[in-house]
Amino acid sequence: MNVCVIGTGYVGLVTGATFADLGNEVICVDKDESKIERLKRAEMPIYEPGLEEIVRRNMEEGRISFTTDIAEGVKRSLVIFIAVGTPPKDNGETDLSQVESVAKEIAYHMDSYKIVVNKSTVPVGTGDLVRRIIEQHRRRQVDFDVVSNPEFLKEGSAVYDSMHPDRIVIGAPSQHVAMALLELYAPLEVPMLITDVESAEMIKYASNAFLATKISFINAIANICEKAGADVMLVAKGMGYDKRIGHEFLQAGLGFGGSCFPKDTLSLRHVTRKFGEDSSLLDAVLAINEDRVPRFVRRIEQRFAGDVSGKTFGILGLAFKPNTDDLREAKSLEIIRLLQEKGARIRAYDPVAMENAKAVLENVTFSKSAYDAAEGTDAVIIVTDWNEFKLLNLEKLREKMRQPIIFDGRNIYQPERVRKYGFEYFSIGRP
Ligand code: UGA
Repeated sequence: MNVCVIGTGYVGLVTGATFADLGNEVICVDKDESKIERLKRAEMPIYEPGLEEIVRRNMEEGRISFTTDIAEGVKRSLVIFIAVGTPPKDNGETDLSQVESVAKEIAYHMDSYKIVVNKSTVPVGTGDLVRRIIEQHRRRQVDFDVVSNPEFLKEGSAVYDSMHPDRIVIGAPSQHVAMALLELYAPLEVPMLITDVESAEMIKYASNAFLATKISFINAIANICEKAGADVMLVAKGMGYDKRIGHEFLQAGLGFGGSCFPKDTLSLRHVTRKFGEDSSLLDAVLAINEDRVPRFVRRIEQRFAGDVSGKTFGILGLAFKPNTDDLREAKSLEIIRLLQEKGARIRAYDPVAMENAKAVLENVTFSKSAYDAAEGTDAVIIVTDWNEFKLLNLEKLREKMRQPIIFDGRNIYQPERVRKYGFEYFSIGRP
């Protein structure tokens, strides 16, 4: 099938690569010329394990190409995916301007029947909006349909998730239109659910908000554990064996960051209020999350008798989670800002996010390894649970430090083990 994907961010690029790998002819469109130039040389604009290899292979076999010319993409394809950014506005509402402008361009260049698929995360009602925009702006009276096909991939495992999704959701105006999408996804052999457009849009937001709720829930439990002398890791484990609860997304820590959970929960809250409904559940999920870093920093301050000025901290991990170089809503930025405001000095290390971090952080000494980041510090702070931090040589780490103190925001160590090496160890929700 001829497929066009508009937008070459995480979702667009990975979706394009996946469809090409399944044997389709894919044309990826982006208005960012330098990005397209790089992609034509098979250079990835993002760090994502396995992505470069799959793009390169499909380019060599002629199944994926890149262009800034949206007209070419639209004319050549039956199915057109919209995968552009949907950032939040100040009031939490989703900014749909990129989706709207792409819809106009599609309308402008359509010369035969098209299936326009919303893959960007968009609030309920956007499918209808896109349909109205195309109706208003099409230059020829050609037919089209608008489908919602939300994406559930995670950064850091995007290629795997895209090839092995738990389910495919297709929100289509008719069974006939849904069939075209079913055909596209059939080789993946995974459960597919066909719904109306609005339900598919809601499934995406409800799923992300539910996962965010799980994280805030376990973080609220962690707060109680700290006071009660219980261990949140054991509590989560014990809860997770209940099949109705499950083990995933019950990792207590610094809360959820990234480009999705914070923005999507805010957007769902905005939609909830817009419909005049009670948003208190989502209010709580967001409030708990917003307090994670301030609470953690208060703990650090307490250890230094309320004054961290002149102290040096080694930050391990800058990316919002492991296996990505993405710093959007990364807890590291918030922790560093708060500590710097209180007069602390910062050394930092991340396996892949250093270049991105240099562009946004000031007065930080960037180190070449975790040990280097620990050099002369009063404490090391674990912010991202990269695998390489889990097996650090703790003796070597301690020797580098001025004071052997670890604040572990992701509970990557066993407290007894770290203490055996002579560290004072603070973690989340554990005695
Ligand atoms: C999330 C969803 O997991 C994907 O299904 C979805 O497609 C995507 O958003 C999206 O809407 O595009 P992502 O933001 O890449 O994916 O990352 P997650 O692995 O879900 O992690 C989000 C945040 O939650 C991270 O900051 C992570 O550290 C935190 N988290 C995750 C926890 O604090 N505890 C957990 O148990 C799990």
